[in-house]
Amino acid sequence: MAALRGLPWFAKVYLVAVIGAAFALLGYSVAVSGRLEQLDWSNLLVLALLFLVCESVPTLLNVKQAAVSVSFSAALAAVVLVGPEGAALVGMTAVFSVRPGLPLVKRLFNGAQFAVCGYVAGKVYEWLGGGVGLPTIAGFDDLIVPFTGAAAVFVPLNFILIALVLVLTGQADQVPLRGVAQFMVSYLGYATFGLLIAGLWATVSSISAVLVLLPLFVARWAFGQYNAQQRSYDATIAALCQAVETKDYYTRGHCTRVSLASGMIAHEIGMGSERLRAIRYAGMLHDVGKLGVPTKVLQKDGPLTEEEFAAIQLHPMRGLEIVRGIDFLDEAFAGIMHHHERQDGKGYPMGLAGDEIPEFARIIAVADAFDSMTSDRSYRGARPVEVAMAELRKGAGTQFDPVMVVAFIKAVDRDGWEPPRKVITPPAGAAETTTKDHDDPTMPIQVVSER
Ligand SMILES: [Fe+2]
Repeated sequence: MAALRGLPWFAKVYLVAVIGAAFALLGYSVAVSGRLEQLDWSNLLVLALLFLVCESVPTLLNVKQAAVSVSFSAALAAVVLVGPEGAALVGMTAVFSVRPGLPLVKRLFNGAQFAVCGYVAGKVYEWLGGGVGLPTIAGFDDLIVPFTGAAAVFVPLNFILIALVLVLTGQADQVPLRGVAQFMVSYLGYATFGLLIAGLWATVSSISAVLVLLPLFVARWAFGQYNAQQRSYDATIAALCQAVETKDYYTRGHCTRVSLASGMIAHEIGMGSERLRAIRYAGMLHDVGKLGVPTKVLQKDGPLTEEEFAAIQLHPMRGLEIVRGIDFLDEAFAGIMHHHERQDGKGYPMGLAGDEIPEFARIIAVADAFDSMTSDRSYRGARPVEVAMAELRKGAGTQFDPVMVVAFIKAVDRDGWEPPRKVITPPAGAAETTTKDHDDPTMPIQVVSER
């Protein structure tokens, strides 16, 4: 019980209460109701094994974020086949799930909350007139309403019990409040497979579980693969970013922050999740074309020649050339290519104006300028957030899209912004630094004519 130590007292009380409630329910079933004696133990054993396999799925399939798994289906099948007491016993087996390193308290809590959910769902099922035991084909229709009632109680109750433990142990940020509706619907979906298992059990007995769960396992596995793929995409992007940032000591973290700020604007204007991911990638990679600009131009002290300035202005095109082969970037290409266009058409590389500029590029332009202003540069210190905001407002309509400026200000007002930590000036020669920043709207690059 070492894991209990260090927890706030109310968290301890809660954990002990849930675990105690589960054991009390089981004790009551054995000692008072006498219903455990009428249980179909062979079915219960198979269900418990099935539940245990499902509970171990995150480990077996290496799907990290699957805190809750297809075990919902097995737990609800138990409600129909072995009743509330049986469902509680099946839920309790979560204590033995294959999750190496999971502390005993967590195991006990997990088993207990499944037991409580199974028991309560079972009671609701019976209360709504559901019959416990192998369903008959003729009586199957009568199960649907009680089963729906049981699932409608099981899923939210499970969510609340787990959400509470997260809140009480200081992990409130892990409660998926934003996607709560989606969470409920997908787990109610898993839950309905429980009815299929129970229905098939009457004809093909315990094999029904395998028949129903196999496609679920395949779906889970595919989901895990998808996540692994996403992670490798993220790593690819981060590596490219790192390559750009090693060219300039002062821009460390710039692409990550531009990505974050672009995501905030995109979210504020109501972009969907697929496009949100793409804009974050675009923010990360917007300056990847700097890899194609000679370092001596980036690091040159004093005004640039027209030729050198042209080399800098080429970086959005170079960026596009570098990442063109990465097909998952999609709409991000437009953001990378046009992030230095201006509303008044005086930007580069194409001189697009207003709505001709792709939406992604209009978002990145705001995020990029803001982060540049609020970061230290070799030629000036970081500006306060309010000053940078005023500068964005000033440029709205000429340099920036006013809609994106307003959206960003709104998002920062609500969620705040963490400016980068102060850069300690590197000793000469110890790191690469550039003396100008093409993103800084307050300090335009000086260009001298060669003639
Ligand atoms: Fe740029």
